[in-house]
Amino acid sequence: MALVSMRQLLDEAAKGGYGVGAFNVNDMEQIQAIMEAAKETQSPVIVQASRGARQFAQDRYLFHLILAANELYPEIPIAMHQDHGNSFETCKSAIELGFTSVMMDGSLKADGKTPASFEENVEVTRKVVDFAHERGVTVEGEIGVLGGVEDGHGAGGSGLDHITDPDQAVEFAERTGVDALAIAIGTSHGAYKFTKKPDGSVLKMDVLIAIHKRLPKTHLVMHGSSSVPKDLQDIINQYGGKLKETWGVPVEEIQLGIRNGVRKINVDTDNRLAITGAIRKVFAETPEKFDPRDYLKPAREAMQKVVALRMQQFGQAGHAQDYKPLPITAMIKGYADGTLDTRPSVVGV
Ligand code: G3H
Ligand code: 13P
Ligand code: ZN
Repeated sequence: MALVSMRQLLDEAAKGGYGVGAFNVNDMEQIQAIMEAAKETQSPVIVQASRGARQFAQDRYLFHLILAANELYPEIPIAMHQDHGNSFETCKSAIELGFTSVMMDGSLKADGKTPASFEENVEVTRKVVDFAHERGVTVEGEIGVLGGVEDGHGAGGSGLDHITDPDQAVEFAERTGVDALAIAIGTSHGAYKFTKKPDGSVLKMDVLIAIHKRLPKTHLVMHGSSSVPKDLQDIINQYGGKLKETWGVPVEEIQLGIRNGVRKINVDTDNRLAITGAIRKVFAETPEKFDPRDYLKPAREAMQKVVALRMQQFGQAGHAQDYKPLPITAMIKGYADGTLDTRPSVVGV
């Protein structure tokens, strides 16, 4: 089975009324954890690599690991996505490597830190859309800015600093023709999102619902959507870690989002916590061990558990075999003849 276009995968999720987790990877064990969770739950998957991940692993290794996953799990549709592309060149290189989807995060300038103007965002995103769609590749854009900083990427500050304006979201979708749209509703990347269980004053589900009403055909994306479960925090702290008390995005809020147009849910931090907790436990309980397999195996299992649970909670479980990946030529044709056009003026909203 070929890698699937993320657009097809999200269109199918919209038809089925479910969401799909997009899990970040940096190494073989994380890819294996996702694929085993997908097999266990029979889920389609989105695997995503940030710029940092591409640099850390050397992206060709990562891409070939995905091809291996595709060979080993032929029944599972896999989309390979560039997370937070900072420039046209980053997206172009991902497409040339074979990724089936890219995020052009034009909400920030190419430094990945400074908020960009609306016009700058439209311009660079439009350029990526033109290049990607001619090659049948999906594009996710971002309007509004998330809080926090991860590995040098992010504007910092609170998630409430740059909440998406629904009018701008509509204009952005119209002028860029993106397939999927990440919006800022108060979440942040990383473990420190909220200082207590979030309510509507800090997690703006009302904004998300308003945007979905205006853009019913655009697949919405929630970034910074780790739930930061207390049990994972506790394992880390029990074995010598020093995490401060923190809250993530409750799964029931994500499920409310899924009922209101959210199709892609980005999760990285929960897996990082699971891996770190499992490794710390082995180090603390059996300090005589030094074979990396003794701690990478439990780490991989801990991540698989988190991913499988999210796949059930987001509703993608059981949908792996609903459809066959369309050839890239079909996606190219669909973009060229307008059948894949979701711009509000075209779809009549
Ligand atoms: O965008 C945030 C993801 O968690 C990726 O993080 O840039 O540290 O790989 P990273
Ligand atoms: P978390 O830090 O909440 O896992 O968010 C990940 C993300 O949005 C990757 O793009
Ligand atoms: Zn993100």
